Amino acid sequence: MAESTLSNLLRETRRFDPPADLAASANLTADAYAEAEADPEAFWAKQAERLTWETPFEQVLDWSNAPFAKWFVGGKINAAYNCLDRHVEAGNGDRVAYYFEGEPGDTRTITYAQLKDEVCQAANALIELGVKTGDRVAIYMPMIPETVVAMLACARLGAPHTVVFGGFSSTALRDRILGCEAEIVITADGGYRKGKPSALKPAVDEALTECPDVRNVIVAKRTGQDVDWTEGRDLWWDDFVGKQSTEHTPESFDAEHPLYVMYTSGTTGKPKGILHTTGGYLVGTAYSHWAVFDIKPETDVYWTAADIGWVTGHSYIVYAPLINGTTSIMYEGTPDTPHPGRWWEIIEKYKVTILYCAPTAIRMFMKFGAEIPAKNDLSTLRLIGSVGEPINPEAYIWYRENIGGGKTPVVDTWWQTETGMIMISPLPGVTSGKPGSAMQPLPGISADVVDDAGNSVPNGSGGYLVLNKPWPAMLRTVWGDDERYVDTYWSRFKGTYFAGDGAKRDEDGDIWVLGRVDDVMNVSGHRLSTTEIESALVSHPKVAEAAVVGASDVTTGQAVVAFVILRASAEGGDDDVVNELRKHVSSEIGAIARPRNILVVSELPKTRSGKIMRRLLRDVAEHREVGDVTTLADDSVMGAIQQGMNSSS
Ligand code: WTA
Repeated sequence: MAESTLSNLLRETRRFDPPADLAASANLTADAYAEAEADPEAFWAKQAERLTWETPFEQVLDWSNAPFAKWFVGGKINAAYNCLDRHVEAGNGDRVAYYFEGEPGDTRTITYAQLKDEVCQAANALIELGVKTGDRVAIYMPMIPETVVAMLACARLGAPHTVVFGGFSSTALRDRILGCEAEIVITADGGYRKGKPSALKPAVDEALTECPDVRNVIVAKRTGQDVDWTEGRDLWWDDFVGKQSTEHTPESFDAEHPLYVMYTSGTTGKPKGILHTTGGYLVGTAYSHWAVFDIKPETDVYWTAADIGWVTGHSYIVYAPLINGTTSIMYEGTPDTPHPGRWWEIIEKYKVTILYCAPTAIRMFMKFGAEIPAKNDLSTLRLIGSVGEPINPEAYIWYRENIGGGKTPVVDTWWQTETGMIMISPLPGVTSGKPGSAMQPLPGISADVVDDAGNSVPNGSGGYLVLNKPWPAMLRTVWGDDERYVDTYWSRFKGTYFAGDGAKRDEDGDIWVLGRVDDVMNVSGHRLSTTEIESALVSHPKVAEAAVVGASDVTTGQAVVAFVILRASAEGGDDDVVNELRKHVSSEIGAIARPRNILVVSELPKTRSGKIMRRLLRDVAEHREVGDVTTLADDSVMGAIQQGMNSSS
């Protein structure tokens, strides 16, 4: 984040106190901070009572083999039972789990009892396919109820799922299937996006040409698109799952049994499989959901407007809301289809009380104009949240005023795929919110801002965001790569988790998260690695070298800007090559990674030791004066690049 933005942020003095009624009935009150501080393990043991344990745990935390944590040692539990069966047993089977709203306008209302039956059927289907506890299942689905059913069926059997975002390409899907050696894939013919059916099955077919170990593919019918069919391998969901019994007795698994693997971009070219396990993850997500969103399951209608293919969807569309017995909205499509007021129509229709979304969406709504949400009755909203990237104060204020009616608290929640749960956030009934600040770690969580040497910075200074105590929903490792887990997260500052984000602590000690300090970009709230996109570019036969930077963008937060050197043999005009390379990145990673700009250059700025100076490229991409070039091997390079950029935009 530019220095100017930083100083603007720190001049932000507006404060918003919690509404009196919310404060008076809030789930979590200010004394929780002291309670958790005094005895963290007792605090987490108390939070663990949100779950039904088949065998109680004997120890809250075993940190003796740090940084490999074991939470709720000795406890046994079934995740799907906790999400569904126990609510049905308690007489809440008729409560709505999801109001599903398809993009074309079709709807489904699914109660806890119905969801349980469907999950049992899907679990029985997986058993028929030979899935055993510990086997991995890949899920590549649109935002439809079957996606939740598939995940919970896996959880019920103790078969870790790996959900691959439907926007990823067949290559990305293949890598993830191979990475965790999945033998079953669950998918759909397609889903609806931007008013059109968007196919998924062809990408699965393509990926599977290189995944010989995948035995079967279960295909849900969503769009009715034509699909290629491999007899003996492919099975229609309706036939194969639909014919199964709705009875299935869940088995309990160790608290540390793997629940899922979620791939996320890191600083190297290869995405990391983040492993979450069962007991701690469920306790951490359920607690944070209850605390941050002040969930009252009998009366709230809760909506996380994210995709299930990302961690936000895993934690706050699927697991935490179900553990807490919440009624949620699930919306399949894009926010502006068929019109830019689609979200607000949904909020009015279902009387949504809590909305959780990303700043990139908010900034898009700002562009559409405040008159759009003004057409609907949004007065049921009592709390609104933000996640995925820093929220700029303008967007925060617009959100609060135009969506929250100038009265709802905004919870700016900081967390990561790795943390599994919200870590830093205002408490809606306690905190006086500051626009742009995630404020304080939740009770039970410990965060700090440190300098290069790992020392805590004084108030009013910036540094690196770290987490200095283990937490229940923490990642346990990188799938199949313990060393990478230790190196990436626990080596930069000894004994402390390094998040990869820069942050500032203001004069009151509140935390402002400023964005990544590594080679990870944040485009529309999606994490992308510069190295991964560079690798995709150089895998194209026409590219000799590539450098990628994240340049700030008013709508998407950051945008991908690539600088490429072509091979001497490359033919065709620059425009053709640029389009070809954009397409190539889409097919290697997915459309989300497609560069906004690609500039063909003859040289890249390098230090004498050959390191690409991305800082200078970022200056060019953001149309700033180029910084210090004295360490460049050839300082004429930047002039040429800048000229190229100016003539291309
Ligand atoms: C960024 C998404 C500022 C941050 C849940 C982090 C944020 C990365 C915030 C994780 C926030 C997330 N303020 N930045 N409230 N929330 N981030 O793994 O850079 O997709 O490291 O998890 O998003 O992205 P991920």
